[in-house]
Amino acid sequence: MTSLSDLPLRANLVGKQPYGAPQDPVPVSLNVNENTHPIPEDVVADIVESLATAVRGVNRYPDREFTELREALAGYLGHGLTAEQLWAANGSNEVLQQVLQAFGGPGRSLLSFTPTYSMYPLLASGTDTAWVSVPRPADYVLTPELVVGALREHRPDIAILCGPNNPTGTPLDREVILAAYDAFDGILIVDEAYHEFDAEHESAVTLLPERYRLLVSRTMSKAFAFAGVRLGYLAADPAVIDALRLVRLPYHLSALTQAAATAAIRHSGEMLATVADIREQRDRLAEALEALGYEVHPSGANFLLVGGFADPDGVFESLRAQGILIRNLGIEGHLRITAGTEAETTTVIDAITALTSR
Ligand SMILES: Cc1ncc(COP(=O)(O)O)c(C=O)c1O
Repeated sequence: MTSLSDLPLRANLVGKQPYGAPQDPVPVSLNVNENTHPIPEDVVADIVESLATAVRGVNRYPDREFTELREALAGYLGHGLTAEQLWAANGSNEVLQQVLQAFGGPGRSLLSFTPTYSMYPLLASGTDTAWVSVPRPADYVLTPELVVGALREHRPDIAILCGPNNPTGTPLDREVILAAYDAFDGILIVDEAYHEFDAEHESAVTLLPERYRLLVSRTMSKAFAFAGVRLGYLAADPAVIDALRLVRLPYHLSALTQAAATAAIRHSGEMLATVADIREQRDRLAEALEALGYEVHPSGANFLLVGGFADPDGVFESLRAQGILIRNLGIEGHLRITAGTEAETTTVIDAITALTSR
């Protein structure tokens, strides 16, 4: 049988592992930070109607510029943004890949502060961009001093600040973004995949005016409960959008994706109605785990990074055997848990309580 090592793979991909969070069909799936609440039925009906209209036109290629969707996204973000400043792709992963294709590549580098989102180094290898990993301090909080020091030392072509940060949940302060932007002359991406859960911080889109190297990436996969549709987006200077047009595949956003996302944005209020409850469940989970003696890192997202597990692998497997999937990222003593519905959160609290008192 042929194996990877028999193939003339690009050197920078040799030995790499693909992204692969488990996708077990378990009753309580809290491992990839989705919104676990179902979409309201009236919204489903409106999306289906829009899809039906779109299907009647699929003999033709879709709008390559997805203008209606970009207008809807600009309206959703507000702050005077216009469609010319918006871009979208199949998940923010694809948006980030396009940014690396346009601004990274051989001889160029991408820097971020780890632990952070595990796809960044994979996107770097896929585009042959050098990956520079700068460790976060013990509390995972970025400071202007740390960020400026790293950017001045490494002078990357692209830097990503993830706020709130996956997998630690750590919020990102505005002063850090401002200091980072002024510390180097490359592309600065602020990844706001979890922004809607972070009521305490203003979006970095408010910093876009006069900052043409600042890119703010967002997604409908998390708070918007739309992970299955695959719709990520980005707000930036119109010149950045022109750069992304150079690397996107023609018609990369299907007519069905465009129709579903545009319809969902019409109902953004209803789609985001569960955010308050998810934040409540996150805080309830944090309180319960702290009472059990675990170390819960402050989170502005819909998940918690929890330390103090003597045997994280054992706890992960024991919960998995009970039909509860959480995330084991290989951070010593730690596990990451998504805040689910009230019932799911109760199930995970009860299961960890039982394991702890054993
Ligand atoms: C920080 C961060 N950025 C981006 C993504 C990618 O999301 P998507 O491609 O579904 O938009 C994720 C998904 O988990 C994430 O955690």
